[in-house]
Amino acid sequence: MNAISRRGFLGSIAAGGAAAMLPRTVLAQAGSTRGLTVHGDQFLLDGKPFQIISGAIHYFRIHPDQWRDRLSRLRALGLNTVETYVAWNFHEGHEFTGWRDLRRFITTAGELGLKVVVRPGPYICAEWDFGGFPARLLADRDLHLRCSDPAYTKEVDAWFGRLLPQLVPLQATRGGPVIAVQVENEYGSFGNDQDHLRHLADLLRGHGIDSLLFCSNGTADYMLRGGTLPGVLSTANFDGDPTGPLADLRRFQPQGPLWCTEYWDGWFDHWGEHHHTTDPANTTAMVDKMLAAGASVNLYMAAGGTNFEWYAGANYDEGHASYQPTVTSYDYDSPVSESGELTAKFTALRSVIGKYAPLPTGPLPVAPQRLSPQSFHTNGSAGLLDSLDRLSRPARRAAPVPMEDLGQSFGLVHYRARVQGPRSTATLRVTGLADRALVFLDGKPVGVLDRNTPKQGVAVTIGGSSAVLDLLVDTGGRVNFGQQLADRKGISGPVMLGGQALYGWEIRPLPLDDLDHLRFSTGAAPTGPAFHRASVRVDSPADGFLALPGWQKGLVWLNGFLLGRYWEVGPQRTLYAPAPLWRKGTNEVLVLELHRPGDHLELRDHPDLG
Ligand code: GLA
Repeated sequence: MNAISRRGFLGSIAAGGAAAMLPRTVLAQAGSTRGLTVHGDQFLLDGKPFQIISGAIHYFRIHPDQWRDRLSRLRALGLNTVETYVAWNFHEGHEFTGWRDLRRFITTAGELGLKVVVRPGPYICAEWDFGGFPARLLADRDLHLRCSDPAYTKEVDAWFGRLLPQLVPLQATRGGPVIAVQVENEYGSFGNDQDHLRHLADLLRGHGIDSLLFCSNGTADYMLRGGTLPGVLSTANFDGDPTGPLADLRRFQPQGPLWCTEYWDGWFDHWGEHHHTTDPANTTAMVDKMLAAGASVNLYMAAGGTNFEWYAGANYDEGHASYQPTVTSYDYDSPVSESGELTAKFTALRSVIGKYAPLPTGPLPVAPQRLSPQSFHTNGSAGLLDSLDRLSRPARRAAPVPMEDLGQSFGLVHYRARVQGPRSTATLRVTGLADRALVFLDGKPVGVLDRNTPKQGVAVTIGGSSAVLDLLVDTGGRVNFGQQLADRKGISGPVMLGGQALYGWEIRPLPLDDLDHLRFSTGAAPTGPAFHRASVRVDSPADGFLALPGWQKGLVWLNGFLLGRYWEVGPQRTLYAPAPLWRKGTNEVLVLELHRPGDHLELRDHPDLG
């Protein structure tokens, strides 16, 4: 008997007395026939054979007023199931209401005839800031993520204690749509702490999750071994030809249904790299191959959505020691686009899915409505450095600390120190910078420091008896994959002028979550980082795409909601502004441009992702 069943958490898969004791054999179901169960090499749903034809859609990436629309598009694609992660940091400090009403999302899917697979992590990867972890975990230097460390376990226990009661009543074992729940996420790509995985499975069972559990991983042997648990279904994540990966999975798990829990039908983009797309015909042929082999599949993503607000994640390329921030769009080249269009990939996939499952009858959902294009100008601005007192209160520290140490989860951080002079030219360098620092001396811009070029400094000369040094730190998303997850934002190390560390800092968290106190003036726009506001009239709300030609880097709010980051390096050129965020009549667009504003903004009727 394995540890899970010994502790009495008998799930739907761990009750078969006669099954062979192979290391990773999924035991046959005996007893209950409700919900999703395993029988030999196939799934049964309520006792009848079931092939999971699923697609990923993240409720946290789609405005809640559009959940039903997007889910009905996925049903129209022919899917019988949808899959979502749960992003812990999205729920941190909030009730399960409004955009965070996970039960409503799942119930809506159920109403449309879709089953639901839930991946509660707590680590989710997903190109989402810090893989879904709340930033405050980074304030504890002794906490080790994703292992049996007691400090981490305590946090996870508390979070699951809040989350799982939301899910328990929605399980198919109790008449709801939830058919399966994942344990951790691709754990074998990260570590080998089996006790940790077992603890998570026990937590799920202990809170009443009696649905099928699964562990999904890449198919390298060490990943499957490190990332799975005896008695829990192993599934595989991959792209391209399914033949090899499914054979790897079969070798590892000689018995049980084959399930590709992430079939990457597209991919995400980093700032400064190219836009990723995949060929619809090829993707569809591979999905056809998988379904013909009797495997179950989850298309990752089926409807990608958007990394609104500060939630885009990042990768870290260990080989090149390079930080790679993810763009605001999470379109993913998925069959249902970021703005809800049914793409060529949708059409191709639908025709294949129709071979294996009945397609819903009736017309396909119509294309979402779009606003008419227009150009508009800003009508006021407020310099950021002039507005510091309206935005935040300073903390004083001898040495610089990152935002997490000041209780800040997202945003920018401003650091100020007075440096004695006169001083001949020396190089200013920042250790532990995440991710860029705009450097000012007595209010004048003197250069930009970048995390990816740590050796490059800025030359600083102090003519008089002292000078004020300002460092405005601009942040990308936190790393969401690999061993560099503890991606604290701001400045974590010493600021060096030549060989001397600078002390005596005034640090201002800039979460930018309350911009009501800014004072805008209409004359010439200030140089350097500044807020610029504009008004746009629309006759009736619909989807729009905001472009900032000639602007360099910053953030855009629409009627107070942060749409996300823009950056002239691309590939993304427009920001999706969904219909529910617009108002009939006048709308306020607010831009924080860090460098140099363009001379106008554009509302477009089509996306440009590069
Ligand atoms: C992995 C993760 C997902 C996502 C994809 C890439 O498979 O499990 O969360 O990060 O990679 O999009």
